[in-house]
Amino acid sequence: DAAQKGGYEHFMLKEIHEQPEVVKTTITPRISNHIPTFENEGISLDKLSSYNNIFIVACGTAMHAGMVGKYVIEKMARVSVTVDIASEFRYRDPLINEGDLVILISQSGETADTKAALELAKERGAETLAIVNVKGSSIARAADYVLYTHAGPEISVASTKAYMVQVSVMYLLAFQLAYAKGKISKEQLVEYTKLLENIPEQIEEAINLKPACQFAASKLLNADSLLYIGRGLDYALSMEGSLKLKEISYIHSESYAAGELKHGTISLIDDGMPVIAIATQKDLVEKTISNIKEVKARGAFVVLIAAPGVDVEDGVSDVTICLPEANQLLMPMVAAVPLQLIAYYTSVLKGNDVDKPRNLAKSVTVE
Ligand code: G6P
Repeated sequence: DAAQKGGYEHFMLKEIHEQPEVVKTTITPRISNHIPTFENEGISLDKLSSYNNIFIVACGTAMHAGMVGKYVIEKMARVSVTVDIASEFRYRDPLINEGDLVILISQSGETADTKAALELAKERGAETLAIVNVKGSSIARAADYVLYTHAGPEISVASTKAYMVQVSVMYLLAFQLAYAKGKISKEQLVEYTKLLENIPEQIEEAINLKPACQFAASKLLNADSLLYIGRGLDYALSMEGSLKLKEISYIHSESYAAGELKHGTISLIDDGMPVIAIATQKDLVEKTISNIKEVKARGAFVVLIAAPGVDVEDGVSDVTICLPEANQLLMPMVAAVPLQLIAYYTSVLKGNDVDKPRNLAKSVTVE
């Protein structure tokens, strides 16, 4: 066991550290001269540009990778993307048709609800694309197309590196789709792809934020409940941050679109309640900061995870974690790291079984 952990105290920490490498392993075979290609996987540009609507269906962390995908694909390729939880999708008689693409995301490739969603999509005549980590798994075998992520075996129940590579594939797909649909030029395609190729370095820098994350975690230990807030891509990311924390720390947590707080949830804020705010999206930062001020004024203990250059006045944030520089579109891959580390250290400091949290299984093969 100790040898397998490669000197790390837990598999989760080891897997967090593996992220720069597994992102490289996942994207490199699909990039040639700074241009993404899925030709080897049977997906041509013409094929990609032919779809009417896209559905992304998954469970848990994989669904959160899909949320990032939705924002990026819609923004870049101007194609409508619906993200569904697999257990909802399969019973809601979804409006899928021939000409639509249903993307299934799954680390294990064995999740029962995701597999059932795939079967339903096929019955309705949609094409199916699986983004799966485990080679030869049921979902990979059943789908029309497969894009394997190359995270290697993920042992920790709380997913980290598998999420990261799922998100990296979402970006490659978004770039390809945007190009296929004529929304970006070849030059822009090259530029975006280069940004993605540089991301492993920025993930590495984010891993160096360990001490700051440990400090932030030490302030969460006595909380009964906390909130994660953000807007746009930061909101998509806050969902994963919140899930990670509750999975392994057993502290109740919710993610909320920052602008929606005032419509109900802000009533929960009282003295000392931690709020983890993510502010990386330039166009939205000002709005998020005004939401942070609203929670601060009601006594929240604010942990701010911010892009460089995001300044708040004194007293607005109690702990600030400043991210390394990265293009804002790709920031989720960088900002995910401190969220993973905060969850990790909270669990460690509480003395929990980090790699095997109670009541959870790595792969859920029953409904
Ligand atoms: C389980 C795991 C989660 C995971 C989810 C989906 O609930 O505990 O970490 O995100 O299943 O798993 P999959 O293998 O389909 O990605």
